[in-house]
Amino acid sequence: MSPLREAKPKVVVCRSLGPAMPLLAQQADIDLVVWSEDRSCPRPWLLENIPGAAGVIVLLGDKVDEEFVRAAGPGLKVVSTMSVGYEHIDLPLMARHNIRVGYTPDVLTEAVADITIMLALMAGRNDNNVYSTVKNGDWARPNFAWSPFKLCGPQLSTTLSSPTRTAGFLGFGRIAQATLARLVGFGVTHALYTGNPASSNSSVRDEELKTRHRLQALERVDVDRLARESDILFVLTPGGAGTYHLVDEAFLRKMKPLSLLVNTSRGSVVDSDALAKALKENWIWGAGLDVVEGEPLITEDHPLVKEPRCVIVPHIGSATFETRLDMATRAVENLFAGLFGRDMPAELRV
Ligand code: DGY
Repeated sequence: MSPLREAKPKVVVCRSLGPAMPLLAQQADIDLVVWSEDRSCPRPWLLENIPGAAGVIVLLGDKVDEEFVRAAGPGLKVVSTMSVGYEHIDLPLMARHNIRVGYTPDVLTEAVADITIMLALMAGRNDNNVYSTVKNGDWARPNFAWSPFKLCGPQLSTTLSSPTRTAGFLGFGRIAQATLARLVGFGVTHALYTGNPASSNSSVRDEELKTRHRLQALERVDVDRLARESDILFVLTPGGAGTYHLVDEAFLRKMKPLSLLVNTSRGSVVDSDALAKALKENWIWGAGLDVVEGEPLITEDHPLVKEPRCVIVPHIGSATFETRLDMATRAVENLFAGLFGRDMPAELRV
């Protein structure tokens, strides 16, 4: 063996990737360092371990910023995040340092679309109140009579008295389109969306989607119309400075009193205080949130947690065994591609 043989590239992994770990462990050409405790990787551990790393696998909570890049040093070639979201990564900084970035779109689209529908149903059907009615024993009490309008909420599907439903999408990417496909089964008749300026073929795509889903309308609209006309508003746009508090007090005040808001993208898109006020003062009916700004530091005294018609789950949009395995696998594939100079299955570019 030649003594001049190059050192193996160092790879740091910020959290065990469970059943995908053998993919890394079996790769003899790397020097692997893993934070293996079942809790977020502490920043000091990361900064202590990334010097000299050629590749790092990160999660949503690991900030990839100046400090990170400085600590890693000039040999850092690739950062691979096990997420579709990339709010935690400074992309322009990555571009300046020629560091490739991998992420995990596509493989989680269906799981997140599933939970988006789940939250729309839970928010509309008073999940917090109905669940506590059973849990507190109120259901069995004599004064709890079945009553015509007790515990009612707005229905997701169309009805005799309400034969149209408009779904609004703030952002109309992969997950929004997968959500729309599911909504068709509930009889949604109209879809409105805002997003990046229409690409040259988005009108062709919209015509195709409209026909396929037998919609009465599928239209790109301005934010004002989106707020005023949506029966259910789905927030599905990436986070970051460009979308910060797009849903603010002015937006919420325009919404229908029986409307629902569902956010399965990033907490920073919705102003939490404004949403709490909108629910308290009945500007909208309810909300279903997988993400909340400031997460994970959300406790029982948070204004939204206190709102009975706000259903919150702890950022579990992609949390199925199958999807998480696919995401972890994709994160490893991206890492290797970046490390060994190949095309990535999913690469983020600025
Ligand atoms: C992601 O991957 O960015 C999602 O938020 C996970 O659910």
